Amino acid sequence: MDNNNQAGWSSKIGFILAAAGSAVGLGNLWRFPYIAAYNGGGAFLLLYLITLFTIGFTLVVLETGIGYRFRKNPVDSMKQINKRFGFIGSVGIIAVTIILGFYSVVGGWIMHYLVFAASHPLSNATQEYFQSFVSRPVLPLLYTVLFLFATAFIVYRGVQEGIEKYSKIMMPLLFVLLFGLVVRSFFLPNAAEGLKYFFKPDFSKINSMTFFSTLGQAFFSLSVGMGIFITYGAYLPEDKKFPIGSSASVIALDTLVSVLAGMMIFPAIFSFNLSMNAGPTLIFITLPKIFASFPFGSIVGVVFFILLFLAALTSTISMIEVSVAYLHGKYGLPRSKAVIGYAIFCVVLAVPFSLAFGLWSDVKIFGYNFFDFGDTVASNILLPAGGFLMCVAVGWFYGAEKLRVFASDKANAVFALMVKYLAPAAVLLVFIDAMGWLK
Ligand code: TRP
Repeated sequence: MDNNNQAGWSSKIGFILAAAGSAVGLGNLWRFPYIAAYNGGGAFLLLYLITLFTIGFTLVVLETGIGYRFRKNPVDSMKQINKRFGFIGSVGIIAVTIILGFYSVVGGWIMHYLVFAASHPLSNATQEYFQSFVSRPVLPLLYTVLFLFATAFIVYRGVQEGIEKYSKIMMPLLFVLLFGLVVRSFFLPNAAEGLKYFFKPDFSKINSMTFFSTLGQAFFSLSVGMGIFITYGAYLPEDKKFPIGSSASVIALDTLVSVLAGMMIFPAIFSFNLSMNAGPTLIFITLPKIFASFPFGSIVGVVFFILLFLAALTSTISMIEVSVAYLHGKYGLPRSKAVIGYAIFCVVLAVPFSLAFGLWSDVKIFGYNFFDFGDTVASNILLPAGGFLMCVAVGWFYGAEKLRVFASDKANAVFALMVKYLAPAAVLLVFIDAMGWLK
């Protein structure tokens, strides 16, 4: 084991829950339902499932397999293939760091709304309230620091005593809360209409663009391409056989949360005749408005923000862990120092992302404010670039069959073909689409 004073996961379940925690995040709860609705509901779902279990699965297994075989952080693992490939791991770490910067800003907002929902009537969570809160210079940042502190605290405690232990509490809790909210949604007037809208396949909406949205969503949601699974794979107990089923379970859990999120949100939207929108507006304005009119709505609101908090926190934990593993490998820093130093760095990094909603909203880079610029660079450029380069490095220079992720030679040969041709081609297409070169 490359990291000092720590063992890896105590069991496969530890890996599954921690990795699912990384994958399950705001991408499932606020992005997926929206994308599904606009791309043909059930038809999109079908396409999404096929993509996940072919290309998504290939990338998750590839990354986990790299970590499992080389047992090192992303940079050093890639160096095992070829000294010059270390930069591929670095691309991932840079992407993760940027994502952590803006994700923690949203994490801070969520914490604030949790406190707000517990202490104020939710009908006060209006558009104006949201605007005035996020544009303040200091308060949102204080919540961001609090959120980063919570994340760092868990990572500080170690892989087994921190990440694994907390994931084992937080992930089941997340499922219970989500399930509760889905059941609550079922009993709303017009719930059936909402579910029908979400699940009813509309194949006329499927076209080549849908395919790109599907892939983009799959990569973001699984958090592949950034070395997360390399890092978590390196902590898997060594065994005769690579635990291929664990990778499949992570994907299944991630998908389950996305589908449940749609089942929670659509009935609510339909029974209140609101329109579906993505991102911050949905979770900080539209949904609170709906909860406010429920009987016991404030309880529902609090539960909802706890759910978001858990989803975001288990994702940021994995982001810090990737970098901590790297800092340890590269500079020999002990976990404690690496966590503290990196967390402080991230607080500084979060400042421009937070101020992008207020003081610095006029500062633009290529026409984007800081926040959107960070999101675009990390999610649309670095993430596909990292995934693509990993496929090329392993597929063409190492031979994916040598990772021996499957028990049978035949399966390994098919996997090697996927890594060599299909997966990189798909990632490249997503990238080209994200750059807007197809329009
Ligand atoms: N998968 C996360 C979500 O659905 C988002 C994400 C993208 C992520 N890249 C990541 C999480 C890297 C952790 C690490 O919200």
